Amino acid sequence: MAKVKFPNDNVEVEVPAGTMLRDVVENNGVNIHFACGDGRCGACLVKIVKGMENLNQRTESEKRTLELLGAEPDKRLACQVKIEKNGDVVVENVY
Ligand code: FES
Repeated sequence: MAKVKFPNDNVEVEVPAGTMLRDVVENNGVNIHFACGDGRCGACLVKIVKGMENLNQRTESEKRTLELLGAEPDKRLACQVKIEKNGDVVVENVY
C-alpha cells in the first residue's frame, strides 16, 4: 500500500499501487479541483512535497501544460498522476 498525505486538508489515506491520484482526492474530500481532466488546463496543479519517485512519469499533455505554466520540477497535474509504487506521497494544494 502507498500512504498519501494531503497536509493542507489534514487527510492521510492508504491506497494500493496503481491508484489514480484524482480518485484519492475525490474520494476523500481533498480541496483540489479538476476541470479538463486530461492535463490541458492546469487547474489541478499540485506540489509533490515527497514521493515523486513513487509516481508515474509525466504524460505528454502534462509536460506541455507544465512547461506553459513555467512550473517547477516538483509540480504535477493531479489529474495525470498515478501512484505506481508503495511508499509515502505528500501532496500540497497550489490553488
Ligand atoms: S484538470 Fe485540467 S489539467 Fe488536470
